Amino acid sequence: MEEKLQKISESAVLEIEKADSLPALNEVRMAILGKKGELTAVLKGMKDVAPEDRPKVGQMVNETREKIESALEAKKTKLEAEALKKRYESEKIDVTIPGEVHKHGNLHPVTQVRNQLIDIFGSMGFEVYEGTEIETDHYNFTALNTPQDHPARDMQDTFYLSPEFLLRTQTSAGQIHVMEAKKPPIKIISPGKVFRSDDDATHSPMFTQMEGLVVDKGITLCDLKGMLDELVKKIFGEETTTRLRPSYFPFTEPSVEVDVSCFQCGGKGCSLCKGTGWIEVLGAGVVNNKVLQGCGIDTDVYSGFAFGIGIERIAMLKYGINNIKLLFESDLRVLDQIDD
Ligand code: DAH
Repeated sequence: MEEKLQKISESAVLEIEKADSLPALNEVRMAILGKKGELTAVLKGMKDVAPEDRPKVGQMVNETREKIESALEAKKTKLEAEALKKRYESEKIDVTIPGEVHKHGNLHPVTQVRNQLIDIFGSMGFEVYEGTEIETDHYNFTALNTPQDHPARDMQDTFYLSPEFLLRTQTSAGQIHVMEAKKPPIKIISPGKVFRSDDDATHSPMFTQMEGLVVDKGITLCDLKGMLDELVKKIFGEETTTRLRPSYFPFTEPSVEVDVSCFQCGGKGCSLCKGTGWIEVLGAGVVNNKVLQGCGIDTDVYSGFAFGIGIERIAMLKYGINNIKLLFESDLRVLDQIDD
């Protein structure tokens, strides 16, 4: 018996040594200690051992079992450590490898400028009024002191939908809606798309404007100039100044064209300002009394100023874009470069 146990023990140690994975080691365990294992068979045979020899044989079997179990345990610890090491190696992360760059979208340049303007005007206390893209001839022209036979109608090539309805050519139409709905003081901006039958490098049949209207007691051209000075500094930089040139719009009197000092050359003259040192950015003026009166506003008490900004024009100047089409072609190579 002793010999048999010795044999079992020796071959067990050898098998344990050979096992090169946890499942293989488990198989070895089953072959020796499992229900049908070699050592289990010996234990089952104890009933055939003479009673006086049983304690001694029992002790020997136990010793053999303990020996095999501790060998199994030692090997198991070793295999587990190896498996863990392998896993660490296979899952190693090289933190020095440059990360994958995921492309993310950004707002369209026209939207960026529109939002920036809304922020600036919002900080000056302006409310936002959004009108409709389809307008009546009355709101787009007549109420803005441009009746049917007025020559100023030729300034804007209009898309008519019917004799009465049209695609608005200017956000100025919003001025009338606001003045009809609200008593002064009025301080609004009205951003939105406008449409004109006009198409070249700097004109598109659809473009975006932002109208502004202030009506209150004692409003003068000086208020307009003060507001514009602050506005252009915020858009084009602290050094930027404005200059007003006389112009004509039927709904303002006097009317002005507003230039900003060239933010590229600082006013010395460059290709952007075509050597003049100034860049035209918007139209504005003191609201024509006829327009105010048409909306039931008492012009002995109230006066106002209005302005209209072309948003694409500001975006083109700001981002150095020389063809308005680039803003509408959705070419990501262009749009990706513009993210304020
Ligand atoms: N509506 C004019 C245009 O589209 C722009 C404009 C000029 C708006 C002067 C105004 C203004 O409110 O006072 O050409």
